[in-house]
Amino acid sequence: MGRSRFSSALLAGAVELPQTGQIAVFRPSGEQDLSALDAARVQIIHGFYPHHEAWRSRGYRVAVEASGSHDAGVVFLPRAKAQARDLIARAADCSQSGIVIVDGQKTDGVDSILKACRKAGARVSEVFSKAHGKTFSFTGGDFSGWRAPAQLDIEAGFVTAPGVFSADGIDTGSALLAAAMQGQLKGRVCDLGAGWGYLSRKVLSSEKVTECHLVEAEHAALECARHNIDDARAQFHWADATQFSGAGDFDHVVTNPPFHVGRAADASLGQGFIAAAARLLGRRGTLWLVANRHLPYERELAAAFGEVAELGGDGSFKVLRASRPHGAGGRGPQSTGRKQVLT
Ligand SMILES: C[S@@+](CC[C@H](N)C(=O)[O-])C[C@H]1O[C@@H](n2cnc3c(N)ncnc32)[C@H](O)[C@@H]1O
Repeated sequence: MGRSRFSSALLAGAVELPQTGQIAVFRPSGEQDLSALDAARVQIIHGFYPHHEAWRSRGYRVAVEASGSHDAGVVFLPRAKAQARDLIARAADCSQSGIVIVDGQKTDGVDSILKACRKAGARVSEVFSKAHGKTFSFTGGDFSGWRAPAQLDIEAGFVTAPGVFSADGIDTGSALLAAAMQGQLKGRVCDLGAGWGYLSRKVLSSEKVTECHLVEAEHAALECARHNIDDARAQFHWADATQFSGAGDFDHVVTNPPFHVGRAADASLGQGFIAAAARLLGRRGTLWLVANRHLPYERELAAAFGEVAELGGDGSFKVLRASRPHGAGGRGPQSTGRKQVLT
């Protein structure tokens, strides 16, 4: 792994941290290079399960939310602006020295955040630019107005949270999928990448459904889903869907799989979800999937299922149904060696 912009900025003295004490590091991706920091001083704050687990498995202290005070804060900017501002306000709140370091890509809005930090009255350090992004630190400033509400009320009585998928309203693709599968689901259902629970609530509107397992990696989204779904048949799993082993074979898997890493589209995420669905379904199980039309899932579907049909959609989305998963049925849950959290 090459030296990151963040580590280069620290080693060059462009940004500084207190000599001793605890450092809260907000949302570094699992691949981020933190080699310029003493790991014993670091607490990683990350709600996305694969990244959280990556740091935990390397021996770092990890949490979903910062607790108590720290001597300094570091924020790796997420893509969503409201979430980025919220993390900066949290970091400023928990930093005893007042020092907060911010690192972000241009495409994630680091320039406008830098400008906004200055506008909030912060004293900003030297700005270190490298690899299409910037690292800077600040002290002071008033960030009290930057905190986001923990939950946002949207249509149909749903709540969402800043930074989660489709935080402002129901996703058009998910609504198309819900309409296509209405009245056709029964038995044990698994919602892979369940988000704040829209599809699962639709699934549970059928009395023939006996269980609905919501598998979601983003902790904040799953917390919203708990709020949105009050049904004893629902089970909530904070887990990586591609590693999820479930509890026996499912009758249906429903999914609107993720397709972005940062700003870049990445079809391999959805392809991993398709492979997981084929593994999780029983012999007679069915996968219901919605995706942007341009995403190339047909080859994975044809390789993993005996029958694939397009049920409809619109100009932007395709709704697909896949049945007769190859090699499914009669298998017990597979052990992946990775911890899953059933909460
Ligand atoms: C396109 S969104 C769909 C959300 C929800 N089902 C809906 O219809 O509104 C995909 C979801 O997958 C989640 N996700 C991304 N990677 C994941 C992974 N490896 N395991 C589980 N969930 C993941 C994202 O956090 C996001 O909530």
